[in-house]
Amino acid sequence: MKVSIFGLGYVGAVSTACLANDGHDVIGVDVDPSKLEMFRAGTSPIVEEGMPELVRKVVESGKVTATNDVSQAVADSRLSFICVGTPSRSNGSQDLSAIERVCEQIGEAIKSKSDPHVVVVRSTVSPGTVEDVLCPLLEKFSGKKNGEGFDVCFMPEFLREGTSIRDFYDPPYTVIGSTSERATAVVKELLAKIDSPFHITNIRTAEMLKYSANVFHATKITFANEMGRLCKAYGVDSHEVMELFCQDTALNISTAYLKPGFAYGGSCLPKDLRALLHMAKTRDVELPMLASVAASNTTHIQTAMDAVVGNGRRNVGMIGLSFKSGTDDLRESPLVSLAEHFIGKGLTLSIYDQEVNLARLMGSNKKFIETSIPHIAELMTSDCRELIKNAEILVVGIKDKDVIEMLHEETQSDQVILDLVNIPDRHKLAGQYSGVCW
Ligand SMILES: NC(=O)c1ccc[n+]([C@@H]2O[C@H](COP(=O)([O-])OP(=O)(O)OC[C@H]3O[C@@H](n4cnc5c(N)ncnc54)[C@H](O)[C@@H]3O)[C@@H](O)[C@H]2O)c1
Repeated sequence: MKVSIFGLGYVGAVSTACLANDGHDVIGVDVDPSKLEMFRAGTSPIVEEGMPELVRKVVESGKVTATNDVSQAVADSRLSFICVGTPSRSNGSQDLSAIERVCEQIGEAIKSKSDPHVVVVRSTVSPGTVEDVLCPLLEKFSGKKNGEGFDVCFMPEFLREGTSIRDFYDPPYTVIGSTSERATAVVKELLAKIDSPFHITNIRTAEMLKYSANVFHATKITFANEMGRLCKAYGVDSHEVMELFCQDTALNISTAYLKPGFAYGGSCLPKDLRALLHMAKTRDVELPMLASVAASNTTHIQTAMDAVVGNGRRNVGMIGLSFKSGTDDLRESPLVSLAEHFIGKGLTLSIYDQEVNLARLMGSNKKFIETSIPHIAELMTSDCRELIKNAEILVVGIKDKDVIEMLHEETQSDQVILDLVNIPDRHKLAGQYSGVCW
């Protein structure tokens, strides 16, 4: 395929060399004459393992040309990758000037092209940028409509500097945000030699995915380093701790705890986080990220409180009280905090939790409910169906199968539902639905 690549930095240079190595005819475009010169001379414009040899090879094979002539590059290619920089401004926002300029230039070039051109944005941009900023520019400068005269899609780039050639050929997956079957088909054809799962999603999801991945990586590094500092202060081998930590692929290195939902709570997580922060304090170890975890959790609970109280309806039905589905443990349950807040605000509250059946409660939970939250115990009902029928606003905090079925059957169009657990088959619910973070 004939491809043009805009921006010959890390992403663009590696894509140029690897796609040419796969047999495609690649035109590299950059505004920096020195990068063009280097490519033309068969030398790599970036310092990266394997690139000097690969660039020399593909340039000698005649598969790569380098130019600053945008119209020619677009006219001579089926598809363009946009790989220009999107650096930070001083307030953290993205400086889109380079990518906007490229879209204006590509749009201008598309004007005189008869075949629909495919534009693939690879630069990292925030959700909405492609559809709300870049597409309008392409339309304005080409005088053509997206989906007719050209097709735009977004493909996040996951390669890492240092291992980028390997990452190009063996990515964890390829994700394309696209509403155009034509664009998706062309990209699939281009990457036919790459054997990795291929996911198609909408453009905004693909844009956000790249940020999720990078901030997660930053969070993981910070977590390991904060644990490392604490280990050192306690004379514990941080490498050994983290080696063993990573061996648990059921709970630690896994998909567990990575689903948007409600706040954490219970008898262990809040207590142990507090204890760890106390350990750090006693040895003068600063752990800013871990120290902010509880505040973030509280913000999440506050978000749910505000959604209910701010709604204006006074008659609340809460489904779930324990800190997670399938247990009767009420200690530090965020749902108890919610209930207490609603009572404090003078709302009428009714609560159902089949695990917290007062007659069956034993031991510490019975004592906890009788001594710490007797005011909540009085509000509990054993009839979930009645609770659903009578509430103006429903707060759903457990994912029990029977409860979900009752919600599907009994909710009415004038009710409000706040979902904390990602209720399955939510299209079967009547009423005004919203999730706590979706
Ligand atoms: N570097 C990485 O490892 C990496 C990985 C994944 C995604 N990304 C994202 O990819 C994008 C590019 O990153 P990079 O590190 O390759 O950037 P870079 O700064 O190394 O390269 C950008 C290139 O774009 C060129 N350019 C600027 N304006 C241009 C224009 N109008 N026409 C043509 N070329 C132009 C610049 O001269 C430069 O050579 C960024 O959005 C980045 O966040 C980077």
